[in-house]
Formats: sequence, C-alpha cells, structure tokens
Amino acid sequence: MNKKKAWSGRFTEPTHPLVEKFNASLGFDRRLYRHDIAGSLAHAEMLGRQGIIPKKDAAAIVTGLKKIELEITSGSFKFDDADEDIHMAVERRLKTIIGPAGGRLHTARSRNDQVATAFRLFMRDSVDETIAQIRRLQKSLYNKAVEHLDTIAPAYTHLQPAQPIRLAHWFLAYFEMLGRDAERFIDMRKRINVLPLGSAALAGTNFPIDREWVAKKLGFDSISKNSLDAVGDRDFVAEFLFACSMTGVHLSRISEELIIFTTNEFGVMELPDAFCTGSSIMPQKKNPDVPELVRGKTGRLAGNLVSLLTTMKGLPLAYNKDLQEDKEPVFDSFDQLVIMLELMADIISALKVDTAKLSKRAGEGYMTAVDVADRLVMKGVPFRDAHEIVGRLVRACVEKGVDFGGLDIRELSAIDRRLLGIKPGKITPQNSADGKNTPGGAARRRISARLKEIGREMKKW
Ligand code: ARG
Repeated sequence: MNKKKAWSGRFTEPTHPLVEKFNASLGFDRRLYRHDIAGSLAHAEMLGRQGIIPKKDAAAIVTGLKKIELEITSGSFKFDDADEDIHMAVERRLKTIIGPAGGRLHTARSRNDQVATAFRLFMRDSVDETIAQIRRLQKSLYNKAVEHLDTIAPAYTHLQPAQPIRLAHWFLAYFEMLGRDAERFIDMRKRINVLPLGSAALAGTNFPIDREWVAKKLGFDSISKNSLDAVGDRDFVAEFLFACSMTGVHLSRISEELIIFTTNEFGVMELPDAFCTGSSIMPQKKNPDVPELVRGKTGRLAGNLVSLLTTMKGLPLAYNKDLQEDKEPVFDSFDQLVIMLELMADIISALKVDTAKLSKRAGEGYMTAVDVADRLVMKGVPFRDAHEIVGRLVRACVEKGVDFGGLDIRELSAIDRRLLGIKPGKITPQNSADGKNTPGGAARRRISARLKEIGREMKKW
C-alpha cells in the first residue's frame, strides 16, 4: 500500500487507505489484461515507427509486454491494489522488467484513451461470442421446428386457447426474435469497433502519431473523429447492455412458456432431469430451476442497463471517474447471457414434447371458431354477423357440454340456418392451421418455405 504512484509528482501526502480501496478497479478490470496489452503493443510499435521513441525502446517494450501477458495468463503475476487498475499494474511491471525505457510507453497516450481502447476490444470479442451463442440457440430452435412441422398444437392469447397452429410455428417465433437479437449485436459491432486511442486525455496529442496504422493493427474498422467524444461517451456500452437485456427478455419468455407447459396442469412438455432439481422436503418434486433462473436473471440484465444509463446521465465531458463503473455491468451481463443462451440451446434440444396431448388439446376449446366464422363470411355473411352467430354456436355447445361436432342439424339451424352449409364439426385443427396460408402464417406450406429459407440463411452465419 501507498507505494509511489505514477502520478505522485504534485502530491504531498499519501493516499488514504480507504480511498485506495475505493478507487481501485483492479479487482475487476484485470479481466481486460489481454486487450490492454494488445492496445499497448500496437501503440508502442507505432511510437517506434514514427520515431517518437527510440526503436530499441519500442522493441524492449514489446518484449516486456509479451512477457507480462504470459505472466498474467499463467497466474504468476503479482497484483497489488495500490496499482489502481490493470493499466497501471501492467505499466509498473513493465518498468521493473525493462527499466526506464518502460516509462516511454505512455508517450502520447492517457489512461482515458487507453481504457476506452481496451474496453472496446473486450466488447468486440464479447459481441462475437454472444452472436455465436445466439446462433447456436437458433439452430436448436430450427431443428425442433423441423421435428415438429406436423405437430398440431394450441396457441394462446391471454393464455386462453385461441387457434390451432403447428408447433414448428411456435419454435420459429423464438427463432425470429433471436434473429433480431443477433442482428442488434452485429449492427452495434461497427459502432464498438472504432479506435479511440490517440485522443489522449481529451484533446489529442502533440506528437505525430499514426492512428490509422494503430487501427489497422488492432482490427478496428475506423478511428474516432472527436477526442472529447471518444474518451467521454459510453453509448456503445448502453447499446450492448440493452441488446443483452432484450435477448434476456426473449429467453425469459421462452422460459415462462416452458415452465407453464411442463406443469402438471398443462403437461404437454417435459424438461429432462438434467435441467431440473428436486426439493429438500417434497420427494415428488421436479422443479424447472433453469428456466426460472433464466427468467430471474433477466431482471439483473435490465438492472445493468439502467445502472449504466444512470451513471452516464448528467456527466460533463470528457472523462470522469464515474465511467469506471461501466465495466462490471458489461462483465456481468455478458457472463450471465452467455450461460443463459448455452443452457437454453441445450434445453430446447433435449425438450420432450407430448405430441398426442398437444394435438388433443388443439381440438378443444372451440379453437376453430374463427374458421367457422370465416366460412360463413365466404358464403356472403358480413364478418360481424358471422362472429355473432359463431358466438351463439359456442354458447350452445358450452351449455350442452359438447364440441362443434356435438350439435345436430336441428340444434344448428335453431342457432342460424346458414350454419348448416358449413358443418362446423368437420373443421379439424389441422385444416384450421393450414387455412392460414398467407405470408408469415401457420400453414404447413408457409412454415416449410420459411424452414427452407432459414436453411439457406444459416449457411451464411
Ligand atoms: N480505471 C479507470 C477506468 O476504468 C481508468 C481511467 C482512469 N483515468 C484517469 N484519468 N483517472 O475508467
């Protein structure tokens, strides 16, 4: 504690021990070490090439940094909280290893553009990993859709039986949601992948640096265009945290449906034992902990987004120490989301579906009512009248305790003679689903066309 600081020149007393602890981000930002070192390697090389520092010093810095990376990876590196953050920890060690030449690395650079660079590199990797995990889940949803193209199932609004569909349509609904999530990550990547290095503290630098060269070396798509903006904004972080939250919300909704459909009461799906846990008291229990936790952790993802937005709100330009609070929400959201996606993909692949029960349920609850009404409309009855007639038909069936096939000709004509030409009881759930032969509809033709299209899209992933 209270070793000499890199910035100690203008100070007359040592840092308060509690301030040291409060100020330090090393506990969490050590996770950025590879990205910090990558940024420093490119910077040092550029300084040498531009003649800003002696070439041999640049070479010594490069060797030293590579050694430090190995030390941290192998676990032999000694972290000390007095170093504040990973950037200072690496620099201190560099000076120990290569001597005074190490002190030249920070030429034409500030920790403000250094941390922004390391963090953007980290986030670029995180975005790529997240996209890969989303794609993996989409593949398992796609496979299940293929498997259940001919499984007829009820669909709900208000969680009340609504209309029959093919179960493939349900799996593909989540496939589409996750596709948009993946697109959000793909799109934000170009806004993340912008090099801030060279902005220095806030104004740029007096040295003839080559930012384009550094950008190319580090794989950035472009360089930032305003130094104040580059070190002072974190909109790309908010965007990432939103996309994580939104993906979480989609996963949470799948989870909720899995929880409902696997209840004793619904009982149309079953989660494999490997994804459930038991109760410490009730021996009969098999609880859907994984979907419940996915649903629960989604709250945390939204919290991380709100936390970052609140941190940024009202900050004057450019860098403020508040911005150090940008990292933990990202680490947390990323870590949680990746495991949520991985588990959900495995659960979907292993999900057991009671197809017989589902198709039986699809025949209950008068779910072909719209089809009966539509057929009346096709015979010239205005839709509102048809709706009214079918409403009375449903009521008569409910009273008698039968489905549409359970009324005789006399009963049907008592409701409305026009029902006689329709034969409401003859419309099967499958007819109903396949009647929805419009783009995006539940008909078998439409679903198989979409499956084919997805097959082609997946080749480009
Ligand atoms: N640990 C700091 C962060 O994560 C690094 C930047 C500190 N810059 C400064 N001028 N104090 O934001």
